[in-house]
Amino acid sequence: MSGRLVGIGVGPGDPELVTVKAVRRLREADVVLVPVLALDEPGRAEATVRAHVDAARIKRVVFALNDRGGITPRRAAAWDAAARAVAGEFAAGARTVAFATIGDPNVYSTFTYLAQTVRELVPGVEIETVPGITAMQDLAARSGTVLVEGAESLALMPLTGGVARFRDALDRYDTVVAYKFGGVAEEVLAALRETGRLDDAVYGARLGLAGEDVRPARDLGGEPLPYLSTLIAPGRRTTRGGKLT
Ligand SMILES: C[S@@+](CC[C@H](N)C(=O)[O-])C[C@H]1O[C@@H](n2cnc3c(N)ncnc32)[C@H](O)[C@@H]1O
Repeated sequence: MSGRLVGIGVGPGDPELVTVKAVRRLREADVVLVPVLALDEPGRAEATVRAHVDAARIKRVVFALNDRGGITPRRAAAWDAAARAVAGEFAAGARTVAFATIGDPNVYSTFTYLAQTVRELVPGVEIETVPGITAMQDLAARSGTVLVEGAESLALMPLTGGVARFRDALDRYDTVVAYKFGGVAEEVLAALRETGRLDDAVYGARLGLAGEDVRPARDLGGEPLPYLSTLIAPGRRTTRGGKLT
């Protein structure tokens, strides 16, 4: 018997940055699955979910969250195993299975690949998502940065594939946001400096979590950056309303 799989965004880390709808759907689900690197380690989404849901209804599902290099065998095997875990919950009587994910489930989330796999494995399954607040939005709020105004464009990208796209985006778009850029932080800072964008750029790590670090990007000084790091280079603005058309 098929059921409903709901991908629920639980925000970047602050348990208060979870929508009322997300909390309701987490509580109504028969089981809440959370992605983890290993079964004996709590996941990033799990910490937020635990603030709102009885721990007895939370189950960990292992994903190859740290893999790089496309569709690695570990990644594919983890998606398949997680989809079987969802199917197993339906077979055991669950009508609604929630899957919690940091930020938004439609923004660079493991949920995308899980949902595709479950759709093939469980005929008739209904799949839904509940939006969540992204790290990009949380950094904008915590740093007092306007993300976009008037007719400005916004580019968001992970930099695991290198800094070339980021340099290109600084030319083509107004505000540029980088996720997963720790490995190329020095090149990112150089690109910002060369394009005159360094002074306005802001950096935020572990937003909403212990050890949160929000500061101007120009204050970064070669130290290793955590995985949960985000950078915003806002559009250039000179006049109030100057980007309105
Ligand atoms: C796999 S993506 C997940 C994005 C997430 N679904 C969203 O909507 O924001 C992981 C990246 O999101 C950013 N991120 C997520 N949570 C964060 C946090 N609490 N603090 C800073 N950056 C965060 C980092 O750039 C991190 O490398």
